[in-house]
Amino acid sequence: MTKNELVALAFEALEDSYCVYSNFPVGACVLCKDGKTFKGVNIENASYGLTNCAERSAVFAAYSNGYRREDIEALAIVSNGKRISAPCGACRQVLNELLGKDTPIYLSNGKEEVTKTMRELLPMSFDEEDVL
Ligand code: THU
Repeated sequence: MTKNELVALAFEALEDSYCVYSNFPVGACVLCKDGKTFKGVNIENASYGLTNCAERSAVFAAYSNGYRREDIEALAIVSNGKRISAPCGACRQVLNELLGKDTPIYLSNGKEEVTKTMRELLPMSFDEEDVL
């Protein structure tokens, strides 16, 4: 699957976002090395802090189906924002552990696109290496 196809799946996911409070839909899609894909959306809650971001939803879906860091080829995260939406701090900590440090992360707002890795997004991280 190409980068553009994965980004298109993330935009497809975005349609299912549950963002009744922010009205800011975000979509994500994990591509696994065997070709399987897992979509995710942001899912908000009246207790705002319990919101689950799209990228965490997608990666949790992959893990829930038995896939692990080494099985994941790429992740796309998309919004319709006026600029690219980069993962929030909480998501960076989670993605840093659940993705490979050099796994490509495609970010798009439909106008611009950039590819990042967790190594770039969360340098000098506290991670599994510290505690396992
Ligand atoms: N959000 C995501 O799902 N992913 C991001 O990378 C940035 C923010 C969501 C959380 C909330 O539902 C909405 O966007 C506005 O903050």
